Amino acid sequence: MAERTPLYSALLREAEKKNLRMHMPGHKGKRPGYFAAADLFALDMTELEATGNLYQGLSPISDAERRMAEAAGAPQCFFLPGGSTQGIMAAMAAVCPPGSRVIVDRGCHLSVFFAMAHLDLRPVYLYRRHLEPWGITGPVTSDLVEKLLSKTPDASAVILTSPTYYGVISDLSSVAAATAKRRVPLIVDEAHGAHLPFLNGYRSAVGHGAALSVASAHKTLPALTAGALLYADASFDPRDLRRWTAMFGTSSPSYPVMASIDLARAYLMEEGKAQYERVREAVAALRREINVRGRFRAAEDGNGLSLDPTRLTVSTAAGGISGYGASKLLEERYSIICELADAQNIVCILTCADSEADIDRLGAAILALEDSSATGLPSQKSAVPPRPVPRLSPREAIFAPRFRLPLRRAAGKVAAEPLCPYPPGIPVVAAGEEIRPAHINYLKRCHFDLDQEIMVTEQGCVSRSQENTGGPKDHLSARDGRP
Ligand SMILES: Cc1ncc(COP(=O)(O)O)c(C=O)c1O
Repeated sequence: MAERTPLYSALLREAEKKNLRMHMPGHKGKRPGYFAAADLFALDMTELEATGNLYQGLSPISDAERRMAEAAGAPQCFFLPGGSTQGIMAAMAAVCPPGSRVIVDRGCHLSVFFAMAHLDLRPVYLYRRHLEPWGITGPVTSDLVEKLLSKTPDASAVILTSPTYYGVISDLSSVAAATAKRRVPLIVDEAHGAHLPFLNGYRSAVGHGAALSVASAHKTLPALTAGALLYADASFDPRDLRRWTAMFGTSSPSYPVMASIDLARAYLMEEGKAQYERVREAVAALRREINVRGRFRAAEDGNGLSLDPTRLTVSTAAGGISGYGASKLLEERYSIICELADAQNIVCILTCADSEADIDRLGAAILALEDSSATGLPSQKSAVPPRPVPRLSPREAIFAPRFRLPLRRAAGKVAAEPLCPYPPGIPVVAAGEEIRPAHINYLKRCHFDLDQEIMVTEQGCVSRSQENTGGPKDHLSARDGRP
């Protein structure tokens, strides 16, 4: 019989399991002490004289935003009840005129690709180097940005992700210096870095010279899901930025979500900072212990790599188990849920809400898994996706006449929607890119169902003879799959 409350009941059952949550949201299901007195339903208000108005910039919301800006060392901060997604749309709309060219880190999140479709932007992609044994992308370098800027003198913005899902931080000060020289605004998606300004020695991207940055408070601070932040330098008119955030957000912003950001900030400025420093030390110790053993490889600072000190990325493939296999075993044997698994790695999000006992439990499980890694689960080769082949602009592809066909029959077609393992939400094939057999094979390795129907464009289909870049290995049929 159908359940009376399928979603609510499923959440209650999941919460009762007492799994160790190594995933977002950053509060880890633990109601912070300061929230204990509050009933979320009682706080769920609307715009009243006393509660302020987000999009009109009225107190007390604007006061809370000002305090957050001060805490993060940014001239301006705007609350985003619609996640970093809302902030990315707003930031790009604020600086990228429709139709303009924009330099985009190809490892950006889906929301950047959607923003490009909304705004009809023409991407010039920046490709990063991959690092083994993780297969993850390395930092964006200022050299690369300078090179692209000189080839794209009309670029309206540069947008990149730092830190990445895997914790890789780019040298934003040098990238920002390169963009400033050309007077091109730098937008940084720091969705995974909302906690960084609260750690000793780290700053928000705007503190490094970015024009705008976006941070998901809900990912790494003890804030409720969808609570995020837009930071801006002093050159922006706040009324203008609010207008853009309003355009991409609900007209009924959640007061509990906004209040949770305010509370998380107050907590981080008090005892939360020390808790985060404790976690940072524990993560450093755990990375070292994993690497001393020498089978799994935890990503650590060094050799040109600078990492979010609280993010744990471990190549389990280096020790003979795929990331998918390791994540499954951690759940089945130890009730530990990772944030992300891919062919090579597991990724855990650790925050100020993780106790010493939680981190000990995680460490013991990873080390035990390493010791018993003759599990029969095959390790999988590289998590590096095949290079994209752009054919249409994001907007042309999203709005083009389109039809559906099974993924296994899509080789040679142009995607009308992103094909994207989630997490991390980085399209393997973005809308407007050609689907090659190598992409289909890669998506299969990411556990995509090849019989799943995907949307492809009617226009822009390429015949095999038209292909001009790196001919695909034809393991799969490139037949036209039109019904
Ligand atoms: C790098 C990156 N940017 C942006 C987003 C979107 O963030 P939000 O879920 O807060 O809208 C995500 C979500 O996972 C992300 O990983």
